[in-house]
Amino acid sequence: MNIVVLISGRGTNLEAILKAIKEGKINARVSLVISDKKDSSGLKIAESYGIPTKFIDPSFFASRKGYDIYLAARIKKENPDLVVLAGFMRILSDEFIEQFENKLINIHPSLIPSFQGLKAQKQALDYGSKFSGCTVHYVTKELDNGPIIVQAVVPILPDDTEETLSNRILEYEHRIYPQAIKWISENRVKIEGRKTFVENAKYGTIPVNPDLEDF
Ligand code: GRF
Repeated sequence: MNIVVLISGRGTNLEAILKAIKEGKINARVSLVISDKKDSSGLKIAESYGIPTKFIDPSFFASRKGYDIYLAARIKKENPDLVVLAGFMRILSDEFIEQFENKLINIHPSLIPSFQGLKAQKQALDYGSKFSGCTVHYVTKELDNGPIIVQAVVPILPDDTEETLSNRILEYEHRIYPQAIKWISENRVKIEGRKTFVENAKYGTIPVNPDLEDF
């Protein structure tokens, strides 16, 4: 399976994916990492794994549409089986998304449909939720939505800050993203309408809620 990864920043999810591939856990290769930010540390991470990188500068384009046309053309040159958004901070146009239907996945740091959009961890904290988590999903025209492939549930603790909660969720992001990509590479993820089913996956592991310890 050939993958193109799009990033804007740190690239820790990218690194988790590259590490899993390097360790032989996923039978895939990343042929290109693209960033819309020149100084993304994720570009350095890609280089350290010997992966080609490309910075596509938004300031060269008059419109989002123009950027996305160029971006789509560059991605298609790689003939990818999967396009992975790993902290890519641009909203993609409908025309772009249509071209990569069922081949475009994203990770979001909440249990969607809760807390879509920016600062999902802060949203969950401010709302007073007791659990949040992360989601890998196929990308559709609705922002941070689309058929869910896998979610991890993460507790929100009384003394959490945005930073501590984000870090706790991130640990699970680094597990569910490689897991989802592995399943896709094994052709085990079937999309049916707005749902997905993963063949031979174990479902039903319930997190322990300490509030229920007497029952
Ligand atoms: C992650 O929290 C991801 O869920 C969100 O953007 C962040 C990217 O982090 N979409 P990194 O660049 O992978 O470290």
